[in-house]
Amino acid sequence: MLNAINIHMSNHLDFQDRINLGSYYTPAKYVHLVSQWLESEKIDSKWIIADLSCGGGAFFDLHNVFPDNIYIGNDIDEIALKCAQQNFPFVHYIKSNAFTNVCREHYGIKFHDKLIIVGNPPYNDTTSIINNSLKKDNVKIDTDIKTRDLGITALLSYAKLNADYVAVLHPLSYLIKPANFKLGQKFFKNYKIKQHIVFNSQEFANTSKMTGFPVIVALYEKTIFEGLSYENIKNFTFKTIEGFSFSLKDNDYISDFIEKYPHEHRYTPEILFYTQRDINALKRGKTFMQERTAASVDVEPQKLPFYCYLDCFKRYADVPYFLGNFNVPFNKKTFDSIKDDVMAIAKYFHQNIFGNSPQPTVQQIDRVRNYINNIITYP
Ligand SMILES: C[S@@+](CC[C@H](N)C(=O)[O-])C[C@H]1O[C@@H](n2cnc3c(N)ncnc32)[C@H](O)[C@@H]1O
Repeated sequence: MLNAINIHMSNHLDFQDRINLGSYYTPAKYVHLVSQWLESEKIDSKWIIADLSCGGGAFFDLHNVFPDNIYIGNDIDEIALKCAQQNFPFVHYIKSNAFTNVCREHYGIKFHDKLIIVGNPPYNDTTSIINNSLKKDNVKIDTDIKTRDLGITALLSYAKLNADYVAVLHPLSYLIKPANFKLGQKFFKNYKIKQHIVFNSQEFANTSKMTGFPVIVALYEKTIFEGLSYENIKNFTFKTIEGFSFSLKDNDYISDFIEKYPHEHRYTPEILFYTQRDINALKRGKTFMQERTAASVDVEPQKLPFYCYLDCFKRYADVPYFLGNFNVPFNKKTFDSIKDDVMAIAKYFHQNIFGNSPQPTVQQIDRVRNYINNIITYP
């Protein structure tokens, strides 16, 4: 079995176990990047470097740059740990659930030790619908760090361990989605981002068939109570590995003008739209719905053009992966210029809901495509 496992690929696991353990190992180039960032922080040999969900040990390649430090490796997956042990025998290994009994003593780390936590924790939102039938929610978690997402729980555990630096990979959605950011408060309020880069989750081995989402690899530094606020995140310019820069403040968002989730208001005529989460969910899901379900949102008639825009966005937008967890962007100042066009297009494609509707003209479709392209094209 050990031969089937490589430090960057969890081939010893089947699809279901890989999802449950979140075992998508880190590509070597991001470990290399983290080593450069740590070098620029002037890390000396007194620092302890720990990966508490180390898998096959990809991050222990840091040893090439920091050969005299103490390394600690922990994981719940025994086979992965054996592989790590073979490749990186200098590491002190522990096999345990990283989310219970979270304290320095558990890993033999002393109160005053300088601690860098590195790695790529499992991310597994137990409430998200993707691969839901495969997910198990049976890992024991200390109540003060329990959240619905193992990755956010991992960040809280790093804060609880009072790490001085945290160099980890995690979904960008933990920072940009307000509900996630709030769940991660105990971490984010005490850490600030010193370095980062955003890349496509499809860079992880065994993910080519999944929709790509943005992952950030970031070096966080402890700055008690002077960490990140959501206001900081709104104004933050993220950079991608391909050289793009983007920020939440670049655009307006349709979600600020409509209801995203089912609510109790009812209107005449009754028009129903599928629940909105983010761009990736819109691309996977439905828009206008004929039959009411638990996911139906009642459309306020005055706001119909915004919902028609979402329908057009799903149809025409070729969205870069790094916007995948954003709400659908638009420009409220210029929206009137395509309001009639998006209505005509959506009505034509949903005649079962809106009745007979003429085919939109080529010019109307071009105007909408251009409007959307201008919003989602990054230099
Ligand atoms: C995304 S992989 C990362 C592995 C390695 N750190 C890397 O960067 O390649 C996540 C790892 O978390 C481990 N894991 C999942 N649940 C865990 C838990 N409750 N406690 C400790 N490790 C866990 C998995 O076995 C897997 O090896």
